Amino acid sequence: MFKLTKTSIAIALVAATTMGTAMAAKYGYGRAPTQDEIDMMDIDVRPDGEGYPEGSGSVLEGEPLYIQQCAYCHGEFGESAGRWPVLAGGEGTLADERPEKTIGSYWPYASTIFDYVHRAMPFPAPQSLSDDETYAITAYLLYLNDLVDEDFVASKETLTGFKMPNEDGFFMDDRPDSPNTRCMENCRDPESIEITWDSTELGVTPIDHLTDDADEAPTEAAAEPSIDGAALYKQACAACHDMGVAGAPANGDAAQWADRIAQGSEVLYDHAINGYQGSAGYMPPKGGRADLSDEEVQAIVDYMVESSQ
Ligand code: HEC
Ligand code: HEC
Repeated sequence: MFKLTKTSIAIALVAATTMGTAMAAKYGYGRAPTQDEIDMMDIDVRPDGEGYPEGSGSVLEGEPLYIQQCAYCHGEFGESAGRWPVLAGGEGTLADERPEKTIGSYWPYASTIFDYVHRAMPFPAPQSLSDDETYAITAYLLYLNDLVDEDFVASKETLTGFKMPNEDGFFMDDRPDSPNTRCMENCRDPESIEITWDSTELGVTPIDHLTDDADEAPTEAAAEPSIDGAALYKQACAACHDMGVAGAPANGDAAQWADRIAQGSEVLYDHAINGYQGSAGYMPPKGGRADLSDEEVQAIVDYMVESSQ
């Protein structure tokens, strides 16, 4: 019998450590990351203040940055310009049938604003904001949500412990994972349970397209619906492409588009529909608009190509 004494645990640990080294040697590749490499990825900021960088930024400094880099998607006052997320307002709507979840109405911690904006925004160029710029925009977003005055300056000190209105709306759910009482009364005979088309009458699954009427629809629509590529471009693609991301047909970077066009339409369609990582940035599938059909995206690409020639 092997008894676990202090010495035997120590021996086991030594064995495990040696084994780790042996494994690394066995695969023969990889190395420990340098501190710089870790620092580059280690950018999370937590509610308790851990992770905030040095620096600061005020509401007044944040306003022009926000107007330039964020407002064309999120609206001048965070009300959203179109279908992008709303960033301000919505107080007191959480119990409504259609709650408006914003930073102010929903988010429990201010650290998430700094962390998220720093990490992921602006959408076309994530991680392009400096620490001070991120502080300034965080201050401005708190201001848009009426949570600070216009002389507020965001920093590690002022954001740590900053109380957000809905913080108490989040709590540890202390119910047990399983209440472990099994109901064995009034059970239905499994044989009697039948799944039929009628089951969907509960309204959970839309079935209109499966009904007989739907069969006729294609014939009616067969008269080639015309897609307005220019209008769809404005709605779905201009936010990035008119800003000079990837050049754009509209702002006249014809040389760059000549190279793109030279790849042929099939490649452009494929990149626009499925997304791709280029050297200038990431092109999200359909520009993030999953609701567009492939045909619509192709029509937009045709428009982009035509208007850059
Ligand atoms: C091209 C449009 C675009 C621009 C410009 C942009 N965003 Fe966003 N933003 C988005 C999209 C799309 C999402 C949703 C992303 C997701 O859910 O994956 C988002 C999400 C957010 C959210 C989270 C909203 C929520 O409640 O979940 C914040 C905060 C935000 N953006 C802030 C900013 C800030 C600050 C800037 C400017 C520095 C900016 N955004 C620029 C498109 C944009
Ligand atoms: C969130 C920003 C963003 C949106 C929205 C967006 N694009 Fe792009 N797109 C890019 C970027 C960035 C590139 C350039 C990638 C590179 O080459 O580095 C690009 C490149 C392209 C290209 C060239 C592909 C190539 O092979 O060179 C096409 C075509 C394109 N986009 C079509 C569209 C269409 C159509 C839409 C709207 C449905 C759209 N984009 C919306 C960011 C965006």
